[in-house]
Amino acid sequence: MKGKIGIVGSGLVGKSWAMIFASAGYNVTIYDIKEEAVENALVDIETQLLALKKSELLRGKLTPQEQKSLITGTISLGECIKDAFFIQSAIPENPDLKKKVFKTVADLVITDDVIISSSTSCLMPDIIYADSSRKEQSIICHPVNPPYYAPMVEIIPHDETTQDIRKRTRDIMAEVGQKPVLLNRAIDGFALNRIQYSVINESWRLVQDGIMSPEDVDTVLTAGLGMRYATIGPFETIHLNAEGVREYMEKFASSIKRVSAKFGPTPDYSGKALENICDMIEEKIPLGQMAKRRARRDKLLAGMAKLFKELDSD
Ligand code: NAI
Repeated sequence: MKGKIGIVGSGLVGKSWAMIFASAGYNVTIYDIKEEAVENALVDIETQLLALKKSELLRGKLTPQEQKSLITGTISLGECIKDAFFIQSAIPENPDLKKKVFKTVADLVITDDVIISSSTSCLMPDIIYADSSRKEQSIICHPVNPPYYAPMVEIIPHDETTQDIRKRTRDIMAEVGQKPVLLNRAIDGFALNRIQYSVINESWRLVQDGIMSPEDVDTVLTAGLGMRYATIGPFETIHLNAEGVREYMEKFASSIKRVSAKFGPTPDYSGKALENICDMIEEKIPLGQMAKRRARRDKLLAGMAKLFKELDSD
């Protein structure tokens, strides 16, 4: 029998983690401070597993019922952590709350080999683990929403995290079917948001400066760059777009440097530009239609995940 995983927080991300670990046959105990939250999470997980099976997107070899039977809920943090070899937290993005919860978790853990992990999107490890007595076994596993379909997870160590914990975290993420990337040290924004913010900055400037509409900027990504980047990243792109990176840079480095030197400052994201951009986007997607658009996004992401599963053996 496989080991036990403790999930702290039964919200959107906590539920996804529970399903991912159960799909690989792990026993999962999911904890929340509210009994109702735990109960709702277990019902929602069951509904999601059945729907995934129906749409042929269920991960792993076990049936939805078998996967569901591996997941239990609790409102006792001690019970969640007891005998778990991996603890994945997914509580609200509040530094003081995380600091407090990780102190308690560290005090409850009794062996040095247990991995204590946070899902935080942008809080640095030295902040959330500031009061922890087990920094050397603490780490961040930041998933992409929705984690069940977008498998990349970035792993960010605390400066004191041991090499063994870094390696074992990466191994377990790969084993449960995620695509882990490991940062050698923490950097503000981690990798995903640093890259995402550079895209948002330039997209915003193109609209703010009256060059393009938000809709057309989105199309540059969805029908252009993004499609390519969903299959090969920027490094493989430049490698394949010439006879290797060296030749690509011989040809294009001067253009990259010329254009980059003309990038404007980081936008202020406020004032008239903000109002204009909101008006333009809300005309296309009124705030009342967000649920419909989110459902479309999830349907397309799920379809892409399915396509990759079918086509990509690498
Ligand atoms: P959420 O609000 O859906 O869920 C948080 C859950 O934590 C709630 O069920 C709440 O009752 C529970 N909770 C609150 N205090 C608690 C405590 N002391 N102990 C245990 N449970 C507690 O939040 P969500 O979206 O799941 O986010 C969780 C973490 O994951 C955050 O750090 C967030 O930055 C990160 N994350 C979120 C993503 C997203 O798109 N939602 C994507 C990647 C990471």
